[in-house]
Amino acid sequence: LMLYCLNGPNLNLLGTREPEIYGTDTLADIEKMMSKSANDLGAKLVFRQSNHEGELIDWIQEARTKASALILNAAAYTHTSIAIHDALKTLEIPVIELHLSNPHSREPFRAKSYVAPCAHGVIAGFGSAGYRLSVEAAITLVNKRSK
Ligand code: DQA
Repeated sequence: LMLYCLNGPNLNLLGTREPEIYGTDTLADIEKMMSKSANDLGAKLVFRQSNHEGELIDWIQEARTKASALILNAAAYTHTSIAIHDALKTLEIPVIELHLSNPHSREPFRAKSYVAPCAHGVIAGFGSAGYRLSVEAAITLVNKRSK
């Protein structure tokens, strides 16, 4: 079982970027923790980050054939990207929308998500722990489907 976790713009700065909102774990810390959870549950993890919309789209397309589920923190592109929405529409695997913060408790412009209509579920507001929760959620969805 192969999980793809893709991370959008500015998430490379986690740890130092607005730590009062996003916490002090770095993306490398999160990747390590998430890989371990995946391993413990018998899954493999591809974990990537890009500041570039097109690169994220290339990876979403790659996930069509390589992944059993996609966990996506599209960061600010969540609120703007019809191109990411369209790419997600081509997937037949479960998609989980993920955010460290709860976008609905923040500025009004974060309330709109172009990812949500393509997602089976959303995990938001649990900080870096959300990444671990998303591994469990993704594996649960995949196992349910293959029954
Ligand atoms: C975010 C929330 C987005 O609104 C924001 O643009 C981000 C991070 C989160 O993980 O909380 O960059 O996706």
